[in-house]
Amino acid sequence: MAEPAARRVALLADEADLAGFRRHARECLAGGVEPSQVEWRVASRAEPDLFGHGAGGECSPTAQESSTPIKAPAFFVALAERAALHTDTNRFGLLYRLLWRLVHDNALRHDPLDADRQQVELMARAVRRDMHKMTAFVRFRPLAGAEGQPLQHVAWFEPEHHIVEATAPFFARRFAQMHWAILTPERCVRWDGQALAFGPGANRSDAPPADAAEQLWLTYYASIFNPARLKLAMMQKEMPRRYWKNLPEAALIQPLAAGAAQRERTMVEQPASEPARRRPASSRALAVSARPIVVRAPGSLAELRTLTERCRECPIGAHATQAVHGEGDEQARLMLVGEQAGDREDLLGRPFVGPAGQLLDRALERLGWPRDRLYLTNAVKHFKFQLRGKRRIHKTPAQQEAAACLHWLESEIAIVKPGAAIALGATAARALLGRDVPVMRERGQWSTRADGLRVLVTLHPSALLRTEAGEQEAAFEHWVADLALAAVDAQG
Ligand code: URA
Repeated sequence: MAEPAARRVALLADEADLAGFRRHARECLAGGVEPSQVEWRVASRAEPDLFGHGAGGECSPTAQESSTPIKAPAFFVALAERAALHTDTNRFGLLYRLLWRLVHDNALRHDPLDADRQQVELMARAVRRDMHKMTAFVRFRPLAGAEGQPLQHVAWFEPEHHIVEATAPFFARRFAQMHWAILTPERCVRWDGQALAFGPGANRSDAPPADAAEQLWLTYYASIFNPARLKLAMMQKEMPRRYWKNLPEAALIQPLAAGAAQRERTMVEQPASEPARRRPASSRALAVSARPIVVRAPGSLAELRTLTERCRECPIGAHATQAVHGEGDEQARLMLVGEQAGDREDLLGRPFVGPAGQLLDRALERLGWPRDRLYLTNAVKHFKFQLRGKRRIHKTPAQQEAAACLHWLESEIAIVKPGAAIALGATAARALLGRDVPVMRERGQWSTRADGLRVLVTLHPSALLRTEAGEQEAAFEHWVADLALAAVDAQG
């Protein structure tokens, strides 16, 4: 009776040990070891006695075996690189079997329907998809470091396959200037601006919790959500549910989807808007940079002031005297948002101190709302004007200028955390609600944003200043009645 062939144990260093697989496969092929005789094991999941190299010994090549060139077809090499990272525990055995058969049967190279080949292709596809999802769904959060140390960004992610090493170079290229770490249950990777370092897995609780920047990202996500384009099945295909638990924006999907039909009807009923002109590069960059990974939201109004002062994200700032910051109670329950600083505000550096501000003061007095219990600010922080002789004539900010300024307003909202806001005029309403608002139709109405902020829409005080002399008092009374709808919030 023929001796049964000795079994070989091919021991791999870890789940993603592709180099180990290549080496063992080459050695076993060269030694004529049939696929059924090789037992593929991974050190990290092997029982202790297996470190003694198993009953038949490891594949350990003779000098002749290791120098024998094995010609694997190029398609196999590419497939194996990905399929080897699949979580299926039989993947190495399958890969070696396919390689053995390809080497011994040339015709197989031209049979794309071969069952082993198809299975390997499915595995490779699943791994590629998981890698793609990792590049799309990792969400970094800033981690306060020690004094003088660079800010760290840390993300928690749960991949389906063993893809951390294979995907890490993408993040190193994409976020080369940042110091970051991605923690996963199986492997962690760190980038210090120079090199990638890998380590064992971590717990979700090792990653930092949400911060103000995340609120900014959620607001941005909610504002770009287009109800008319909602295709839930497609969305879930692109963003499978298994990733949702680590995606902050996933919590918004259900409420946004629930309100989509109503929002779509509102959109359809609105008059057509002027097509927007092409946005300059600076505001395009802003739209992308609104993600928390690149924007660290200011943590205080003082920090916000310093940053706003330097802002040149649109051309207005270069011509204005100074940025006009919001002012008032930093814990106000009610925020009033105007359009932009006027001539006087620009000179004094305070909001609502010119003619429109005086009218607002009159209304506040009538309502019995102390101005210093509210927070007053503008959608646009600099004064936009046109020179006519020596006079600076107010110019309405363009949509892209207001869009470039939006993140300052959202930062103020994230810091002050008002329960409600009053949008004074169309520019403020658009900034707060992320859509064109027909002010005359929606005045006196509340809308609730995805982040829970309630927004009351009414006219800008300058609109009252422009009404016919005989109608001004009635217009003022109507306006005060609109504002009074926020009385509960003003007292809060
Ligand atoms: N108009 C505004 O919208 N804001 C001001 O601060 C002044 C006038």
